[in-house]
Amino acid sequence: MEAPFIELNHQKTTEDFLPLQGTDYIELYVGNAKQAAHFYKTAFGFKSIAYAGPETGVKDKVSYVIRQNKLTFVLTTALKNNNIIADHVYKHGDGVKFLALRVDDATDAWEQTTKRSAVSFSEPKILKDESGEVVISGIHTYGETVHLFIERKNYNGAFMPGFIEWKTNYNPCDTGLLYVDHCVGNVGWNQMNKWVSFYENVMGFRNILSFDDKDISTEYSALMSKVMSNGNGFVKFPINEPAEGKKKSQVEEYLDFYNGEGVQHVAIATNNIIETVTELQNRGVEFLKVPGSYYDTVLDRVGHIDEDLQPLRELGILIDRDNEGYLLQIFTKPLQDRPTLFFEIIQRKGAKSFGKGNFKALFEAIEREQALRGNL
Ligand code: FE2
Repeated sequence: MEAPFIELNHQKTTEDFLPLQGTDYIELYVGNAKQAAHFYKTAFGFKSIAYAGPETGVKDKVSYVIRQNKLTFVLTTALKNNNIIADHVYKHGDGVKFLALRVDDATDAWEQTTKRSAVSFSEPKILKDESGEVVISGIHTYGETVHLFIERKNYNGAFMPGFIEWKTNYNPCDTGLLYVDHCVGNVGWNQMNKWVSFYENVMGFRNILSFDDKDISTEYSALMSKVMSNGNGFVKFPINEPAEGKKKSQVEEYLDFYNGEGVQHVAIATNNIIETVTELQNRGVEFLKVPGSYYDTVLDRVGHIDEDLQPLRELGILIDRDNEGYLLQIFTKPLQDRPTLFFEIIQRKGAKSFGKGNFKALFEAIEREQALRGNL
């Protein structure tokens, strides 16, 4: 685990054909959007932003939009059966359907990607209301996940046309969550390189980091991972695939319960992980715990850090270092009953990597949970 991460050299392309301004929002299809919105607001400190449903003329679904700093989630559920949202939830449980990316020109983003063989989800559409217009288009990625391109430079409403402002007096204090740092997809056996090619060729991303099963395996929970980044580094999508181990890979457990490929975790940045995680734990968010012995030797591995070790130990926050600095990170337990989607909370202090030095301790913690579920 001591070996430095593999940095891949790539020739810089002269022009970024798909300039991205970052993550616009993440939309989950869930079994009960009203309760999910309440959970994410209460536990994580999101605020109510917008709503669409029967009262706004939408007859077959309901969506709640919640936001904290630059982080926007949409929680959508079906109101009827025989409906693609209901089918999605039946098959996958609660999970990420749309990873929406902010662009300056959603028509160009769709044309650039579809001419490079992306499968269209939606041709560019202009949505209008009294607050302006949003242009939206979309392409399919792994599993049933979709990338939407959102152009909202001519819009100043609560969220987008079709939504009304969601006014409520219940808006718990935020917990310091700032923006999406990266968003990880789990793909099937031997599918990682196919999706690496997709992000390279169709979306103009680069493979900035790779981990193989020797880097990322414990006795059981082997996986391989490649980190894909867009040109300006605002959007990073690591891709995991399972690897052979003695027992079931954690990625395979995900694929079994999600019934296919999908988003494994959303990593969310904070500027003060001790305060953020203290607050999240006080609100009932459950985190994976590494053994206390992790902290007996961690500073030998990572060297000096600004923080006191004691609060990190008490909260279970992990530490890793690369050539450029260090990072602090922690992973929640799954956010729904199926062992599928979870969050990572991350504070970067110079480091641009993903915590490889923590994989062993972390994966052993994941395996303990997997064993409790009888899925190891
Ligand atoms: Fe991560």
